[in-house]
Amino acid sequence: METGELLRVEHLKKYFNTPAGLLHAVDDVSFTLKRGETLGVVGESGCGKSTLGRVILRLHEPTDGKIFFEGYDILGYGKQAMKQARRDMQIIFQDPFASLNPRMTVSETISEALLIQGFYSAWDKEGLRKRSLELMEMVGLAGRLINTYPHELDGGRRQRIGIARALALNPKLIICDEPVSALDVSIQAQILNLMQDLQDELGFTYLFITHDLSVVKHLSDDILVMYLGQMVEKAPAGRLFENPLHPYTQALLSAIPVPDPDFNLARTILKGELTSPIEPVPGCRFAKRCPRVHEGCTGRDIEFTEREAGHFAACTL
Ligand SMILES: Nc1ncnc2c1ncn2[C@@H]1O[C@H](COP(=O)(O)OP(=O)(O)O)[C@@H](O)[C@H]1O
Ligand SMILES: [Mg+2]
Repeated sequence: METGELLRVEHLKKYFNTPAGLLHAVDDVSFTLKRGETLGVVGESGCGKSTLGRVILRLHEPTDGKIFFEGYDILGYGKQAMKQARRDMQIIFQDPFASLNPRMTVSETISEALLIQGFYSAWDKEGLRKRSLELMEMVGLAGRLINTYPHELDGGRRQRIGIARALALNPKLIICDEPVSALDVSIQAQILNLMQDLQDELGFTYLFITHDLSVVKHLSDDILVMYLGQMVEKAPAGRLFENPLHPYTQALLSAIPVPDPDFNLARTILKGELTSPIEPVPGCRFAKRCPRVHEGCTGRDIEFTEREAGHFAACTL
């Protein structure tokens, strides 16, 4: 298996023009993702996680910054080169029901990408059927379901189709945008285990987006915490849980429910006004809700600095 860097983003920005002003959805995000690893991207709804994923796939053009995939600057790619690159970069969405075509069977859904990318021709019915069955088996879907439609299946099975579709082209990178958030907790664990097993077997790389830190704890090598478009903390997963440095990360961790009722007393309930992502002023965007805010937190941008090996935070403390 090849090792080394697969994806690198540098100072990535995506601003949207809105009637109220320029909205900073992704504001200076940088990271490197090695082959076979998983980067968890965590933060509340609206912090820019989906936009980050979409910009990396060039479903949105970035406002600024660079994206290198296998060492190549993909922002310089034309249409044809990008189509090729997309084989290697797939996405799994939160709601498979919304992302699956209701009029397509399991095999048609899986075959679609194979046809579009020219892996099979439409007359090779037998080849397509065999490959569909193979992919279904990989994601734990019984072969007898090959001609069923999404509405005939439960949420977990629908997400398995979403995963099979993503795997169809042997991608190198899979961007997972809240892939288990719409599922029952009991099914979440099954899907997460499947995703981990598939990665162990096939060696691809995940960018795993979620609002729920507990979901990425066991899956991630590194975890990146975002707040209103910015990176607030990044660390190896274990270190982030043992030694969270940013008050926002600490609040996220304290919100993970634990069975011990005494532990819940230590929960930080985030209060205060949410800062607007529209034309934000310099300073920590978490300041208005931060329990440890002081004068140094406003009026200037807070640097994202390394505090221990591989552990970065943007905080004045
Ligand atoms: N196409 C768009 N046009 C304008 N604003 C957008 C668009 N897409 C996302 N946003 C805004 O960008 C911010 C980040 O959104 P998003 O990336 O969906 O966050 P998340 O996935 O973390 O919930 C939000 O304030 C959202 O309203
Ligand atoms: Mg999202």
